[in-house]
Amino acid sequence: MSSIAVLGYGVVGSGVVELFYKNKESIIAKAGTDVDIKYILDIRDFPDSPYKDKFVKDIDVILNDKDVTVVAECMGGVSFAYKFVKACLEKGKSVSTSNKELVAAKGAELLSLAKANSCNFFFEASVGGAIPIIRPLHKCLAANDITGVAGILNGTTNFILGKMINENMGFSAALKMAQELGYAEKDPTADVEGHDACRKICILSSLICGRHVYPENVYTKGISDISLEDVRYAEKFGCAVKLIASMKKLADGRILPMVMPMLVPHDLLLARVDDVFNAVLVCGDGIDKAMFYGRGAGMLPTASAVLGDVIEEIKCGKCTDISQTWEDSADPSFVAGHEESINKIYFRISKTDDIGIKAIEVIDDSDDMVFVTGPMTLLDAENLGRKLSESGVNVKAMIPVLDI
Ligand code: NDP
Ligand code: HSE
Repeated sequence: MSSIAVLGYGVVGSGVVELFYKNKESIIAKAGTDVDIKYILDIRDFPDSPYKDKFVKDIDVILNDKDVTVVAECMGGVSFAYKFVKACLEKGKSVSTSNKELVAAKGAELLSLAKANSCNFFFEASVGGAIPIIRPLHKCLAANDITGVAGILNGTTNFILGKMINENMGFSAALKMAQELGYAEKDPTADVEGHDACRKICILSSLICGRHVYPENVYTKGISDISLEDVRYAEKFGCAVKLIASMKKLADGRILPMVMPMLVPHDLLLARVDDVFNAVLVCGDGIDKAMFYGRGAGMLPTASAVLGDVIEEIKCGKCTDISQTWEDSADPSFVAGHEESINKIYFRISKTDDIGIKAIEVIDDSDDMVFVTGPMTLLDAENLGRKLSESGVNVKAMIPVLDI
């Protein structure tokens, strides 16, 4: 018999409990042993819950119960989550978490702690919600040299962009809807400004390159500057505007992770990923390209990933997964800056006779001049924007075009 404890009974935690009891019989069959949820830890009271007898407020109850072999952490944040997860791993209890902030900040340390205590720190739910991506990367695709990934990794911003573009909904109303549906972070600035997507690309990059990539070393820009005008012009160029988190391996062995809105050509599947859906395009020397797609946020989709890890843990019985790991890295010199990225660039500027370069596509509208350049480094693009501004041109938008 294996006992599970769930930390946090919010959107994800309550989804874990609901999905577990809905499919308990088949979960037991797949786990190969009897399983139950013994405790649910939350600071709030749930007197009307059918599970009210399972609620505890003191983590020590869970830590001191030898029956609990696996803990699903769904509280969020770093402070308490870190303290509780660390204590669980030190007791040899495996952890499955949906908390990308925790993995991106403390992953290397917690993975090493799990190894030292012959248990696991699993985090399939931390990237892409329901989409299996962590395990495929280090297991199914283990034979490849993964050369890059690019994805839509934040459901809230993809949902907001879709509502604004397709339904003419205002930004605030679309954000409110995403919050009501349980997609957004507690502080939705993390979604809107790209920090959540940044944490996720850090996790994927760390797993791919074997060294911890910290969010503070990754260029991050969110969707708050995206205007509907740019979305409409992008359509004329055959592209959709999406918040893209990407990582490329460079020829010298460094990696280049970044998060920014990009024009995605319609012939890439990523351009057609809408609503709360996420997608990750993985490039490798064996596979060429593989695409992973599914619901990127929400109660049951995320619970599915958390429970998948819980079942995996119960099945493998405290055998540490050696391929799901990376080392800590104090020296960030293996992470290149976004200025080195080479892309075509979309510019929207006030009218001028000379843009100083030969653009490959130009739309000359009544007020604005809109053009796409040939491939250039983002450093050169920023310099071009600066030069145009200095000559009195109003540079209204500058957005790279995704190239993968
Ligand atoms: P919620 O805020 O809905 O749930 C978190 C729950 O944990 C709340 O009930 C909260 O109580 C409780 N909690 C917080 N701190 C403590 C503590 N110290 N002790 C006990 N209970 C505590 O968040 P979500 O369920 O949306 O998200 C949880 C985690 O999963 C986050 O890391 C999030 O980023 C991640 N995630 C969320 C997804 C989603 O679609 N929502 C998808 C993928 C990942 P209180 O409300 O009183 O603070
Ligand atoms: N706030 C996150 C999102 C939750 O919208 O993608 C899933 O990680």
